[in-house]
Amino acid sequence: MEALNVISEEHRNLWRLASAIELVAGSIEQEQRVDSEFFNSVFDYLEHFVDHSHHPKEDDFLFRLLRLRSEEAGPIIDRLAADHHEAPNELATLRAQLAAATNPAAISSFVAGLKSYAATQKRHILAEEKELLPLARAALTADDWREIDSAFLANDDPLFGSKARAEYRALFHRLVSLAPDSIGLGGHRPGTFSAGDGDVLLRVRGLESAYGRIKALKGIDLEVKRGEIVALVGANGAGKTTFLRTLSGVQPMSSGQIEFDGQNIAALRADQRVRRGIGHCPEGRQVFGPLSIEDNLRLGAYTRPKDQVAADLAKIYAMFPVLQEKHKLPAGTLSGGQQQMLAIGRALMGRPKLLLLDEPSMGLAPLLVEEVFNIVKALKAQGITILLVEQNAFAALAIADRGYVMETGAVTLTGTGRQLLANDDVRVAYLGM
Ligand SMILES: Nc1ncnc2c1ncn2[C@@H]1O[C@H](COP(=O)(O)OP(=O)(O)O)[C@@H](O)[C@H]1O
Ligand SMILES: [Mg+2]
Repeated sequence: MEALNVISEEHRNLWRLASAIELVAGSIEQEQRVDSEFFNSVFDYLEHFVDHSHHPKEDDFLFRLLRLRSEEAGPIIDRLAADHHEAPNELATLRAQLAAATNPAAISSFVAGLKSYAATQKRHILAEEKELLPLARAALTADDWREIDSAFLANDDPLFGSKARAEYRALFHRLVSLAPDSIGLGGHRPGTFSAGDGDVLLRVRGLESAYGRIKALKGIDLEVKRGEIVALVGANGAGKTTFLRTLSGVQPMSSGQIEFDGQNIAALRADQRVRRGIGHCPEGRQVFGPLSIEDNLRLGAYTRPKDQVAADLAKIYAMFPVLQEKHKLPAGTLSGGQQQMLAIGRALMGRPKLLLLDEPSMGLAPLLVEEVFNIVKALKAQGITILLVEQNAFAALAIADRGYVMETGAVTLTGTGRQLLANDDVRVAYLGM
């Protein structure tokens, strides 16, 4: 029954895509402007993958065998197969509407087309998941599954798959930044942590730091406003980790100023900075493997009044149910993605106003990378300000309000996430295109 996992994963991706289409359709209505390049990529993906690869496999293997095994399945399959056969026509209509939408008068019919296409996709996915897949689970034989599974084994989704193609990477990250639905990892839910409001939360001027004689930071100027996600991107060895460690006070600074929440914190120890509201989720997660998950979380609360720890723990568990399920187990038993959730949860236990995240997506499979970025977005939605360090520049800039590019210890570029994503130098240096 491996094929069912593949199909469900494809459904989740398609659902996300449909949600993103609905969202963009809404914004086109407001802005009265259509991004053709984006839609052409989406349509190419739907045509090449969904219509030419996903659907035919279902028709040829799953549906064919299920018709033989279950009478009940016949009428449902007829309906679903009719959708599949109609799909290329619908896409052709959308392409024509997109081409016509250069004329403002034709935008509203494109928007209507998009909305109806997304709704059809969702209806189709629900019907398949709720009506057909349970039947398949019950009716198909072990031999059937062998045949179906081998057909589905070659699961090479060009957008979401593990061998995602370079030409789709930009599209993937734009979708991720648009898609509202969270998926995978045993899930997370929005929580209720929040900080106050105001203007600049962190202001760094001329920050320098060195390892012996080697200057790793050569005068960094950077600002983070309350409520922002600020991305700091740059190649390996640029000084990103050193910068975060200097902010949190575990790495000494040799000159410069750090003003946090209106106060100069340059002379404060690391634990004093935690008390002021700087939470650091370090590179490589650094959870304590032999300690239980709950004890790891409690470690994050060492600056907090004891009587408030239980309530904060409950909030973390509400956000990351998988951590509650396993709270007594050693942290080392968690998967990489779950350890990242634990590391974030541990930092949140200190009730940070500013969360420093160092490469949270490092070493994770593509879908988990996305889940981590969804968590980052959810934290922002709760009012936590975030300074996000990433080598995955595409994904980080896609969710960031603003970004800084760092090269060998200095900031070389800054702008909104969108500006940096569109910048040719950034694209060549960090986005592999
Ligand atoms: N513990 C250390 N001792 C000496 N040099 C270091 C140490 N950690 C980092 N560096 C050097 O400082 C520079 C910045 O490294 P780092 O802050 O880890 O960059 P990034 O996080 O951007 O990959 C690199 O040249 C690196 O070799
Ligand atoms: Mg680093």
